[in-house]
Amino acid sequence: MSRVLTNDGSMNMHPGPMYYNGVYHLFFQYNPFGPLFSNQIYWAHSVSHDLINWTPLDLAIAPTEPFDINSCWSGSATILPGNKPVILYTGINSDNQQVQNLAIPKNLSDPYLREWVKYTGNPVVKLPDGIQPDDFRDPTTAWLTDDGKWRIIVGSQKDKTGIAFLYQSEDFINWTKYDSPLLKVEGTGIWECPDFFPVWVDSMNGVDTSVLGPKVRHVLKVGLFDYARDYYMIGNYSPAKENYVPQSEFTLGTLRYDYGKYYASKSFFDPVKNRRILMAWVNESDSEADDIAKGWSGLHSFPRSLWLDQNQKQLIQWPIEEIELLHENEVSFEDKKLEAGSTQEIEGITASQADVKISFKLTNLEEAEELDHSVVDPQLICSAKDASTKGKFGPFGLLALASSDLTEQTAIFFRIYKSSERYVVLMCSDQSRSSTRNGLDKTTYGAFVDIDPKQEEISLRTLVDHSIVESFGGGGKTCITSRVYPTFAIGDDAHLFAFNNGTESVVISKLSAWSVKKARINIEETISCTS
Ligand code: FRU
Repeated sequence: MSRVLTNDGSMNMHPGPMYYNGVYHLFFQYNPFGPLFSNQIYWAHSVSHDLINWTPLDLAIAPTEPFDINSCWSGSATILPGNKPVILYTGINSDNQQVQNLAIPKNLSDPYLREWVKYTGNPVVKLPDGIQPDDFRDPTTAWLTDDGKWRIIVGSQKDKTGIAFLYQSEDFINWTKYDSPLLKVEGTGIWECPDFFPVWVDSMNGVDTSVLGPKVRHVLKVGLFDYARDYYMIGNYSPAKENYVPQSEFTLGTLRYDYGKYYASKSFFDPVKNRRILMAWVNESDSEADDIAKGWSGLHSFPRSLWLDQNQKQLIQWPIEEIELLHENEVSFEDKKLEAGSTQEIEGITASQADVKISFKLTNLEEAEELDHSVVDPQLICSAKDASTKGKFGPFGLLALASSDLTEQTAIFFRIYKSSERYVVLMCSDQSRSSTRNGLDKTTYGAFVDIDPKQEEISLRTLVDHSIVESFGGGGKTCITSRVYPTFAIGDDAHLFAFNNGTESVVISKLSAWSVKKARINIEETISCTS
């Protein structure tokens, strides 16, 4: 499908996705010397015209100077007035301290911005007093406020309190730290790769990073290193008071972009299609020995658009429409009953590389089981009640990357419960039978979907791409990504099924599925020089 995958190195997150003069750029953490993380991390650089096909360029930033000699870690790109891109990134300096550095393109007339020059006065932001040398990293894209000054945040921690330090600058070179951080939350550990951006309260369009005012809310995303999870908050940001008030208190049970394997994400505003796009690092679920054997590790999620849900309580994410460039062989049907205990194969597409949309209609919901309130963590309910455990309404959903005898299968499914006077929809991604191989992380993931099954159909969209399965429940309200390594269900031997292992029948109101062609990635090609 469309992923920037390194052939012979390890990759990590996206320091700086950006759009500049007709080209999408993706910078990412990369070890050119091997497939594992190391103490010599570089910035790799790929470019695309459609966010689907990617061309790798020379490495953009290398650890060469005292201010970054021990690695060039994550950061972000900002487009300054006059259409001038700059990068702020974390350098690990010769004293092994994390500091923030500035780099600018060598030649703005190169359409691909292949060469980057480091500011000789680096670092532009030093380690704050009282912060451990390895606890200060990942500057955000900057935003400009009405006072004409730039702001950034940098992730940190002190005594296990996660911190988003706030800085301001007039010239992008001299940065001053505010006494109060934008936010801090006790007990959360270091905050990695923060992201801070506005979303419209009443539109699915994206908002450029510096837009303020009553029509927007602000999203603060933080990566919790201790859990390898990206959490976000929605709130009100006041640059005059320099404070950010999230709508609800942060807890480990609150909102995440994705309830599976999905970390160190970063968003950017795409002015071409007026949308905000999110991409993330999706790490392996096999062992380091496997990474060494295959010579690479880590990939990027399929790009998603994201916007604020109408109810303003959460974000919605949806695969970018460019995926249609890769669609072929559509199969579709409507109104098909899935009897209790049945499966229905979806034939006519390449199940190892597919895009599937399915929606379910339920009747007699009064019969639904009561939710057991003693277990509150949805992931725990999903692992206790996996795809093989019968319920009443559910489990029903898809079996992706399945062998013909179903020994291997990745099950993405729903269960519907009654809870007081309402219904609760649980979404699970069960990897426990994804491969006959041992030694893999087959953790089952799960989360609730904020929809009312009495009023709405229950929809699921799943993108399958060999070892990655990305699922979007309830039209993008709940997303779960997993990495799986089947041994039989590969290539033409992979199958796709709809299934219902509940005791009540359900109706597939609509199904559409496509084969997804291979995108062009990591193919070196000559890009003509303009200079
Ligand atoms: C996220 C992260 C960042 C850091 C980078 C190093 O996974 O740990 O905090 O800058 O990766 O590659």
